[in-house]
Amino acid sequence: MKMTKIAMLILTLAVTLFILIPSLSWAEDGAALYKAKCAMCHGPDGAGKPAAKIPSLVAPEVKAKADADLIKTVQTNPKHAALAKALNEDQLKAIVGAVRDLQKK
Ligand code: HEC
Repeated sequence: MKMTKIAMLILTLAVTLFILIPSLSWAEDGAALYKAKCAMCHGPDGAGKPAAKIPSLVAPEVKAKADADLIKTVQTNPKHAALAKALNEDQLKAIVGAVRDLQKK
């Protein structure tokens, strides 16, 4: 009887960890993705490169846009064609979160 209880406890723990830990490690790291995929053009602080006609992502007009519009820009603007294929919706959402953080600085 006692062994069964212990076995049940171990099983419950194992299942709980299995459910919790992968979802933690799968969460997209927006700041790291921004650094890897966007910073070389838009700059580490999002200021862009006016001389190269790369717009700021921290300008008021970008701040005013909805998340969905920013994601759409990455997905549809020809300047981002390679990125649009490489990044999924969850990754783009995480990146927009990181851009919002930059806009607050
Ligand atoms: C190869 C350089 C390059 C990379 C990498 C790049 N962009 Fe861009 N981005 C541009 C250029 C150039 C424009 C301006 C496009 C235009 O004027 O049509 C732009 C425009 C934008 C805009 C529109 C800004 C506005 O004023 O409305 C957003 C939003 C944006 N980029 C987000 C991103 C995000 C997020 C990433 C990373 C996933 C990224 N970009 C990666 C070059 C780049």
